[in-house]
Amino acid sequence: MKIMVIGSTGQLGADLIAALPQAGLQALAISGRQDLDIINTAAFAAFLDQHRPDAVINTAAFHNVDLCESQTDSAYKVNTIAVRGLAVECQKRGILLFQIGTDYVMDGPSDSKPLPESAAVHPKSIYALTRFGGDCMTLTHAPTMGYVVRTCGLFGLAGCKLKGGLNFVDTMIAAARAGKPMRVVADQIVAPTPTDDLAKQLILMIQRRPGPGLYHAVSHGQCSWHEFACTALTMAGLDHPIAPVSSGEFAAPAHRPSYSVLDNARLRHLGLDIMTDWRSGLQRFIEKKYPRHK
Ligand SMILES: NC(=O)c1ccc[n+]([C@@H]2O[C@H](COP(=O)([O-])OP(=O)(O)OC[C@H]3O[C@@H](n4cnc5c(N)ncnc54)[C@H](OP(=O)(O)O)[C@@H]3O)[C@@H](O)[C@H]2O)c1
Repeated sequence: MKIMVIGSTGQLGADLIAALPQAGLQALAISGRQDLDIINTAAFAAFLDQHRPDAVINTAAFHNVDLCESQTDSAYKVNTIAVRGLAVECQKRGILLFQIGTDYVMDGPSDSKPLPESAAVHPKSIYALTRFGGDCMTLTHAPTMGYVVRTCGLFGLAGCKLKGGLNFVDTMIAAARAGKPMRVVADQIVAPTPTDDLAKQLILMIQRRPGPGLYHAVSHGQCSWHEFACTALTMAGLDHPIAPVSSGEFAAPAHRPSYSVLDNARLRHLGLDIMTDWRSGLQRFIEKKYPRHK
């Protein structure tokens, strides 16, 4: 099988490109906008006809949450309208489409339980709204070929392309090493997810091909961003204080969910949930990227 990965220079894309050949699948890398901007549906369709992949994994998104508030048109174009194009063109050709979605479409009270696929969405920012649009486009326009895989708090060795190659853990470690004063929100609860685990989960879905539709795929367990940051520093052997603060103290332009831990209910019921606890993924990440002897 040939799998087209859109966004291969991003942290999830890079791990997919590494993992696909190990699983006996051929990877076709679309690096990013330099190769193909997903808002150009005609160019995407031409790519499909030229390369004839069996599946497309779209890791591309306009996911600068705060910038989406002021660049609303661009957010809708990339996160919703472009995804409609991907879905229509894949469905037409019988190509599987895996559209990566986000936990930010959900927003439960802080004492919630993990939210399954059947839970109501509460998109409270332009980012969340436009990403929910992408979910709907996939499920509507690729009814038999489309998969929406919602995930959360990604961290991978390549770092987040959108954030200049740094993910949350990289940023925390850089700040601690530089001895900067650190404040991290303690009232947003998430399930941080390593991109190597997610890449393996996506590959298993391609191989086993459960029914199309909406899936949640995040690490097991949950924590606040503050707990996540403190655990990362401890694992990296850094002794540096991090002050817990409330979301209100940050006054970011976009609303963030208080509780967006997803439950991988569909995968679990199918016996296909191979995600692991966030702590083990974090430990592996730190050992690879920030080994103590360096
Ligand atoms: N990072 C998180 O914490 C998080 C949490 C939940 C969900 N997600 C979702 O998971 C997916 C992967 O995230 P990530 O952290 O791996 O992202 P990333 O590191 O920022 O990588 C995104 C990739 O997409 C490409 N790209 C961006 N806009 C594009 C466009 N219009 N057309 C074609 N390619 C484009 C980028 O390359 P260029 O910049 O060169 O175009 C890059 O290769 C995204 O859908 C993201 O929203 C992420």
